[in-house]
Amino acid sequence: MHSTLWSLLWALVGLTYADNEGPCRCTPRDACWPSVSTWTTLNASVSGKLIKNTPPAISCYPGPYQNDAECAYVYARWYNSSFQSLEPVGYIYPTDDSCPPVDLNSGQKPKSCTLGPAPVYTINATEPEDLAMGLAFAKQNNIRLVVRNTGHDILSKSAGYGALQIWIKYIRKGIIYHESYVPSDQCTHTNWTGSAFTIAGGYVWEDVYREAFQRNLTVVGGGDPNVGCIGGYIQGGGHSPASRDYGLGSDQVLDAQVMLANGSTVTANACQNSDLYFAIRGGGGGTYGVVTSMVVKAYPSQPVVAQSLTIMPRGNNTNALLEAVTDIYTQYPTISDAGFSGYGTWSINGPMALFANETVGYVHAVAAMGKSRNHAESAFAPLLRTLQKYNDTSLFVSVQWYQFPTYAAYYRAMSGVRQPVGTANIALSSRMFDNDSLTQNRTSLRQMIGVIAGAPPERTIQTVELVGGGKVLVDGQNPFSGVNPAWRSTYMVNIVGRVWGDGVDEATVKAVKDDITYRKGGAMRALTPKLGSYMNEADRNDPLWAIDFYGVNYQRLSSIKREYDPDSLFYCPSCVGSEAWHQKYLPGKNYGPLCYGLS
Ligand SMILES: Cc1cc2nc3c(=O)[nH]c(=O)nc-3n(C[C@H](O)[C@H](O)[C@H](O)COP(=O)(O)OP(=O)(O)OC[C@H]3O[C@@H](n4cnc5c(N)ncnc54)[C@H](O)[C@@H]3O)c2cc1C
Ligand SMILES: *[C@@H]1O[C@H](CO)[C@@H](O)[C@H](O)[C@H]1NC(C)=O
Ligand SMILES: *[C@@H]1O[C@H](CO)[C@@H](O)[C@H](O)[C@H]1NC(C)=O
Ligand SMILES: *[C@@H]1O[C@H](CO)[C@@H](O)[C@H](O)[C@H]1NC(C)=O
Ligand SMILES: *[C@@H]1O[C@H](CO)[C@@H](O)[C@H](O)[C@H]1NC(C)=O
Ligand SMILES: *[C@@H]1O[C@H](CO)[C@@H](O)[C@H](O)[C@H]1NC(C)=O
Ligand SMILES: *[C@@H]1O[C@H](CO)[C@@H](O)[C@H](O)[C@H]1NC(C)=O
Ligand SMILES: *[C@@H]1O[C@H](CO)[C@@H](O)[C@H](O)[C@H]1NC(C)=O
Ligand SMILES: *[C@@H]1O[C@H](CO)[C@@H](O)[C@H](O)[C@H]1NC(C)=O
Ligand SMILES: *[C@@H]1O[C@H](CO)[C@@H](O)[C@H](O)[C@H]1NC(C)=O
Ligand SMILES: *[C@@H]1O[C@H](CO)[C@@H](O)[C@H](O)[C@H]1NC(C)=O
Ligand SMILES: *[C@@H]1O[C@H](CO)[C@@H](O)[C@H](O)[C@H]1NC(C)=O
Repeated sequence: MHSTLWSLLWALVGLTYADNEGPCRCTPRDACWPSVSTWTTLNASVSGKLIKNTPPAISCYPGPYQNDAECAYVYARWYNSSFQSLEPVGYIYPTDDSCPPVDLNSGQKPKSCTLGPAPVYTINATEPEDLAMGLAFAKQNNIRLVVRNTGHDILSKSAGYGALQIWIKYIRKGIIYHESYVPSDQCTHTNWTGSAFTIAGGYVWEDVYREAFQRNLTVVGGGDPNVGCIGGYIQGGGHSPASRDYGLGSDQVLDAQVMLANGSTVTANACQNSDLYFAIRGGGGGTYGVVTSMVVKAYPSQPVVAQSLTIMPRGNNTNALLEAVTDIYTQYPTISDAGFSGYGTWSINGPMALFANETVGYVHAVAAMGKSRNHAESAFAPLLRTLQKYNDTSLFVSVQWYQFPTYAAYYRAMSGVRQPVGTANIALSSRMFDNDSLTQNRTSLRQMIGVIAGAPPERTIQTVELVGGGKVLVDGQNPFSGVNPAWRSTYMVNIVGRVWGDGVDEATVKAVKDDITYRKGGAMRALTPKLGSYMNEADRNDPLWAIDFYGVNYQRLSSIKREYDPDSLFYCPSCVGSEAWHQKYLPGKNYGPLCYGLS
């Protein structure tokens, strides 16, 4: 019935049938998968930089790679994000533990090891031309394509069953400092004459911080220094300890070099390819092209005044804790308006310690740039007065103040934490909160906080990102911003997460995921129905992902996607244009071939 329409659609996107399975990308199980000699030809065209991927923990399993010493090394580093990001198919939040490391020392026995959802081959590119070879090969052979830098992505965007991966990590053409930025093409629309850095390759923020900090400058980069710069972070928005003061990561981009699906490289800025410029400034990574270089703004560093606030309940007074959390949330807009931003976490029974050895409580570290200690104390006075009523009766409330001469000193001391990497056993959801949702109705806010706190056995944990407000609100006037416009009224983003143990049955896991998506995510949504979720820290199972992650920009981004990637070579889950595809899950798995059309 729909067959004519379907074949027309397939023809439009340039797809062919694979093994009568429907219009799918070829996988190693299909006859259309390229022969070894075809791959060898590709390898030669990239000067031997083609890697046949093996899982990082393969040394723990019987077979040609088995090696106990290597296995012990991998086991010890599994939760180290730098280790994972140096592995071609290492992930920080894998969607599937298809080859877990084995603790041989404690007598653990290996079970099974497969590549799972990871790409089959990787081009370890060092030159942009290597990327172009990969794009052409994937297109010509109808292979799923994955673009990767660190593999930090939480929504499985840097994985891909049966894929060829192009890896930008080792494209390293320098981090170049411009004391006073002059656009090479006289494109002065951004009006920026301050300093800037060109980030030409697969660098992580730590690399750029090194260059910025030695010049006493601030750049808007990851709270975690190991996040990649020009990929998913900036292209998906990018919040930072500095975003309240200077705007989101994507707001910093002055100019970019982008390799399009057809292998040509274009400049994207306010004058040239300005629609592409709009799209890569917040419309999501891995979607429109491969960014090989970006120019970002840099700012003179300022002295920083910081505060840490910790709250612990006395006994098990969870209610008092949640009342205090509600009071704090209510004050966030005021605190942000006074210049503060930062990160916090809280739980009524966390899966790990929140601070010291405490798994119950609230903690945050927030800071303001260029403000005095007196200003800071008066900004917090109303909140601390409110919290005083619980102190020593139902809660312990402790406040500490710090002062730093530079942003660098603050970042090193109180931010810049390398987070231990995650596990596949996690479900999380995020939501943006604006002034009204935090300040208008304390009763409904308190109810929402109760729902997301969950019951103690759920071991729910919250992350509070006080990274909006300030310049994030102001930058909404920029015509070249592809981020979800909801960011422009956001003061804070709340992430709610739950984890589960290995070997938990499927029904239980499903119940946890549904609890996060519908009950807890739903409670947050109900309070801010017009806002959205931060696409880089969001629920993989969000049924409303298009509107939640992109807001009203979705349609415009879709048309830009079609313009620059007419054959839909770039695909990632929950990326713009991905609704045209589905993953045909293998039996019992949450991954499988990528096929055109609805499932
Ligand atoms: C430990 C940890 C800490 C984090 N901290 C922060 C934080 O402080 N602030 C924040 O905003 N977010 C943070 N995030 C979320 C982070 O922004 C996302 O995970 C983001 O996708 C990472 O981008 P990446 O390029 O490093 O990762 P990757 O997984 O390599 O790539 C992510 C996506 O970008 C695409 N991509 C990568 N490189 C390119 C390129 N050159 N051109 C085009 N597309 C590309 C990939 O195809 C994929 O779709 C954190 C995540 C983790 C795991
Ligand atoms: C590609 O070539 C290099 C150098 O000859 C070789 O080491 C590597 O194993 C090859 N890769 C594949 C996938 O064959
Ligand atoms: C993490 O891994 C990196 C890369 O393998 C290594 O340099 C670093 O020392 C490791 N860190 C820790 C804490 O083990
Ligand atoms: C990728 O290439 C870089 C640069 O040549 C090299 O240092 C690195 O070891 C390679 N990685 C792998 C996994 O082959
Ligand atoms: C640059 O300045 C001009 C003139 O003041 C203004 O019209 C324009 O909106 C500014 N551009 C941006 C991107 O702020
Ligand atoms: C860094 O710059 C700020 C102002 O831009 C200045 O106050 C401070 O003294 C500088 N610090 C150092 C270490 O140079
Ligand atoms: C708090 O509750 C937990 C479990 O609900 C219990 O194990 C713990 O002993 C209680 N702590 C106090 C101080 O009452
Ligand atoms: C936490 O640490 C403190 C001090 O180090 C100790 O007194 C307390 O017993 C510890 N609590 C738990 C639950 O381990
Ligand atoms: C809470 O009470 C303790 C003990 O009286 C006190 O040391 C602390 O300063 C109080 N906290 C706040 C935020 O006032
Ligand atoms: C936030 O909302 C409160 C009341 O709900 C209002 O008093 C305040 O002015 C608002 N702040 C801003 C910046 O709009
Ligand atoms: C505040 O929210 C509560 C609970 O959702 C609701 O019953 C109440 O009517 C709201 N109050 C106002 C003033 O809107
Ligand atoms: C590559 O694609 C872009 C955007 O679709 C197009 O403008 C350009 O002409 C193409 N280049 C080549 C060489 O086909």
